[in-house]
Amino acid sequence: MRIRIFVGTGGVGKTSLTAATGLQTALDGGKCLVLTIDPAWRLRTALNLTSSDLQQKVDLAGLPAKGELWAALLDVGASLDRAVRLYARPKQAETVLKHPIYHILTTSIAGMQELMAVERIGQALEDGFEYIFVDTAPARHAFEFLDKPEFFVQLVTFPIVKLIGRTYKLWEGSAMQKLSHKAFELYTRVEELLGASLVREILDFFSVFQTVAETYANRAKRTLRLLRDPRVTGFSVVTTPFKAGRDADYFWSQLRDRRFSVESLIVNRVWPALQPDLPGDLPTALGRTVAWYQDVSQGHQRSLRAVFEKYSGKIPKLIAVPEQSQDLHGVEALYAIAKSVGKP
Ligand SMILES: Nc1ncnc2c1ncn2[C@@H]1O[C@H](COP(=O)(O)OP(=O)(O)OP(=O)(O)O)[C@@H](O)[C@H]1O
Ligand SMILES: [Mg+2]
Repeated sequence: MRIRIFVGTGGVGKTSLTAATGLQTALDGGKCLVLTIDPAWRLRTALNLTSSDLQQKVDLAGLPAKGELWAALLDVGASLDRAVRLYARPKQAETVLKHPIYHILTTSIAGMQELMAVERIGQALEDGFEYIFVDTAPARHAFEFLDKPEFFVQLVTFPIVKLIGRTYKLWEGSAMQKLSHKAFELYTRVEELLGASLVREILDFFSVFQTVAETYANRAKRTLRLLRDPRVTGFSVVTTPFKAGRDADYFWSQLRDRRFSVESLIVNRVWPALQPDLPGDLPTALGRTVAWYQDVSQGHQRSLRAVFEKYSGKIPKLIAVPEQSQDLHGVEALYAIAKSVGKP
């Protein structure tokens, strides 16, 4: 099983190249899933998905495909519901799913999208895909979908949080006297801040939700471990020629600081060099157009050479994908670049 995660700044071609890599791997015979954790769901147009299903098989009719290609769109509510049903005892699950705080949690808490991304990758692993290609959002902080679960794991396993969950159960069992003086003071202070009934509601919810949160955290920990294992997961940094140097430096250092392994640097939308056998006596207007094209394409080649030189030996695969004459919408269009992207 292999996981490849595509990161990059806005609009550089992450979604297109994630889908194209999935397609190439499916052509070669793998059971592949392309999963988008971007709420914008551009993957729908990239793969021309017509059904509204959150997970669906992509039609590869007419292509020499030995494997299967599936597409999945991250839906925060659906992923969290699935987690609650799986992790809580049946009776508790219904209580959680119907609780008003649960609805606030799924719909309005910022960062739920990022927390659920790692959970959704975990679910995809359970579903038995051999290859998972993850398309990420052009987030202001590109790594929040990795950092937030990491923080959540620490929070849930943090002694004071565990203590609150546990002592609240004692408190509920009218064993108030068993509470330490310190814990009692803490409750009193929180009640003063938020009001007694809200605190009661939150704690009541938390005491039921705690099992789910702890199981989520354990699974997130496991999934993050797989994402850090270079035998399982590689990151692909996607960029365009003139941004390549800056982007490569930024993503390389950010990923290395977090101990993730960078498998490839993909420079997308490169203008190919001109054929050298053009006649020398072109009409002026045409000559100017050709000179302009040459200027830009030579600029692309220079950027490409510089960044590939800098990262050769550091990043195993350095890939250039040419600019296409059409938008990358639909499997046919992706097929045209699938070979140049390669497979994991
Ligand atoms: N090599 C290419 N040649 C021509 N068009 C391309 C190429 N790569 C991407 N595009 C086009 O560029 C646009 C942006 O691509 P895409 O949606 O894949 O980028 P993205 O990085 O996922 O964007 P976002 O950051 O908004 O998620 C699309 O219209 C796509 O068809
Ligand atoms: Mg995208």
